[in-house]
Amino acid sequence: MTSAARMSTDRLDPDEVARFAFRVWGYKQGEMVSLLIHLGDRLGLYRVLDGVGTVTAEELAGRTGLHPRWLREWLRGNAAADLLRSDDGERFELTAVGAAVLTREGDSLQFAAGAFGPPPDPAFVDDLANAFRTGIGLPYDRHGPASVHQTERMLGPWARLSLVPTIVPALEGMHDRLAAGTVVADVGCGAAVALTTLAEAYPRSTFHGYELSHLAVERARARVADAGLTNVEIFDRRAEELPGSGAYSLVLTFDCLHDMTRPDAAAAAIRRAIADDGTWLVKEIRCHDTWTGNRRNPMLAMFLGFSIASCMSSALSEPDGAGLGTIGLPPRALEQLARDAGFTRFQLHDFDDPANLYYEVRP
Ligand SMILES: C[S@@+](CC[C@H](N)C(=O)[O-])C[C@H]1O[C@@H](n2cnc3c(N)ncnc32)[C@H](O)[C@@H]1O
Repeated sequence: MTSAARMSTDRLDPDEVARFAFRVWGYKQGEMVSLLIHLGDRLGLYRVLDGVGTVTAEELAGRTGLHPRWLREWLRGNAAADLLRSDDGERFELTAVGAAVLTREGDSLQFAAGAFGPPPDPAFVDDLANAFRTGIGLPYDRHGPASVHQTERMLGPWARLSLVPTIVPALEGMHDRLAAGTVVADVGCGAAVALTTLAEAYPRSTFHGYELSHLAVERARARVADAGLTNVEIFDRRAEELPGSGAYSLVLTFDCLHDMTRPDAAAAAIRRAIADDGTWLVKEIRCHDTWTGNRRNPMLAMFLGFSIASCMSSALSEPDGAGLGTIGLPPRALEQLARDAGFTRFQLHDFDDPANLYYEVRP
């Protein structure tokens, strides 16, 4: 460590220190506002506020049966964070734009409140800190069942609202094949939002989900049962164990290759599982080969936080894991991974998903 790093704080420019401290406290404010959003989502408050115009804490209490003093503090916190509109701190409004982001889970691509879970369990954070010592990360199941639901709600809108109208039609010949009846695999399917969305839209096709996390498998099976779908089956099996049958016309890997300990082995298994005229549709985080390129992403710090908390951690959860993490598969690296596995055609699609790019990969 250099002597400059140990410089006495009274020799530092106080304005510069104050600006830095303000930035750091801004992240604490983010943590506290995240809690307000979680509580609003969990208690259904944004849903009640949607479309009712301006309300007071007492009126909101009348509509929800919750205590007005607690609601006033919550409403004021939301107004201070510019999530609700209020001129006087007494009357509050959730605008239509705010509702699209905070409560319209069923029809808004921009719905975000589902990503705001409760603060992490301290024992989980202990294990995460210990991973810095051992080098071995935590698999998805270590996050517990609530996290499967949170991932489902965070990633769900794009799968539910874009897959059928926008993404499938962009893949060469795929809509017709799915409509006529074919076999599809979703690898790392999580709670099976993409799978069930496709299965509902294409009842003549058969859909197989493969998933490493037992908790996600349970959730996916419950989702399939709730939807009453008979053309979907979920396998408690990891990507590397896909049947090498060449049977699949379409294989999806959505937001999961970078989480895998062996994405190379997964890609090779997908090549063996896919038909020679099949398509591998990859959804991966929108990222660049360079630090400078990634720095243009205003949410980069959040993505790297997700990486520590889950993506890189999962990808290092076994000895010799590749550890790619959230921004570990930019287009060129992904193309190389696919070519090494025996794929020869590679097309990038940008559907204006702010977090992800999509790739149509073919043998
Ligand atoms: C971020 S989640 C995405 C889930 C889902 N594809 C979606 O878009 O909602 C990543 C998933 O990859 C799964 N996963 C990680 N490694 C895997 C492997 N080797 N085989 C199968 N699934 C794996 C995790 O258990 C987790 O459910």
